[in-house]
Amino acid sequence: MRKSITDLYTMHARGEKIAMLTCYDSSFARVLENAGVDVLLVGDSLGMVVQGHDSPLPVSIADVAYHTACVVRGSRTVFIMADMPFGSSQITPQETFRNAAELMRAGAQMVKIEGGKEMVSTVEFLASRGIPVCAHVGLTPQSVHQVGGFKVQGRDNAAAERIIEDAKALETGGASILLMEAIPRTLADRVCDAVTIPTIGIGASPRCSGQVLVIYDMLGLGAYIPPRFVRPFIKETGSIEEAVKLYVAEVKAGQFPGPEHCYHS
Ligand code: KIV
Repeated sequence: MRKSITDLYTMHARGEKIAMLTCYDSSFARVLENAGVDVLLVGDSLGMVVQGHDSPLPVSIADVAYHTACVVRGSRTVFIMADMPFGSSQITPQETFRNAAELMRAGAQMVKIEGGKEMVSTVEFLASRGIPVCAHVGLTPQSVHQVGGFKVQGRDNAAAERIIEDAKALETGGASILLMEAIPRTLADRVCDAVTIPTIGIGASPRCSGQVLVIYDMLGLGAYIPPRFVRPFIKETGSIEEAVKLYVAEVKAGQFPGPEHCYHS
C-alpha cells in the first residue's frame, strides 16, 4: 500500500527522518522505492536535468502531470509529491486548484508550491478543498530572475525574519509540509522551531524532519557545478541502488547533511 500523509506525520511524530528524492520516470521510481525512499518528488527540476533547460521556468503543468503518471506507474508504496511549475500557481487560487487537480488526477498525493506569505490564500484554498500542499521557502528556483541567480537566501536579519514569518503563515494557512532550500543552518533550525508541521531540507539543516536531493545531482550527473548541499553518493558506492541506500541510511541516521553540506551565516 502507498504511504499516506498520515504515515509521514507518524514518522515526524516519532522523530523518524523522511528520505525524499526527486524522480521523473518509472524505472527510477522502482529503484528508489526498493532502496527505501519514503517520498518521490516530481520536481520542476526536470526542466534542467531531463529537458536540458538552464532553469525550471519552461516546465508546464502537462510536463509535470506526464512525469507524475510515469513515476506512479513505476511504484507501489512511496508517497508521491508533484511540483506546481512556474505560472501554474501564481495567478488565482481557483486557477491553481484546476492545475493542481491535473497533478492529483495523474496520481500525486500532494502538490508543492513555491513562495511565502503571498501564497497563503492559495494554500488555504487548496488545503480546504482536499489538496494537501507542501510549501517551498528559502531559495525558490522559479524566482531565479527575481533574486539574480540560484543563491542562498535569508543571510541578513530582515530576510531571515521574513522566511520565519512566511513559514508560520503558510502553516497557519494549511500547508501540510514545509520545504526549505538553501538557507543558513541556524535559520533552518529556527524555522524548525517555529512550525509544527514536518520540514524537509535541501541545503538547510539536519534538524529538518527529512531531506531531499535531486536524484541526478546525487548520482553526479548534473551538467552544472553542484551546489554545496549536494553529496555525490554514487562516488562512494558502486551502483545507483547502493548510492540511494546509503543516502536513505544517512538521512535516517541524521548524518546527512553534514556541516560541509550546510550554509553557515
Ligand atoms: O524541483 C525540484 O527538484 C525541487 C527540489 C530541489 C526541492 O523543488
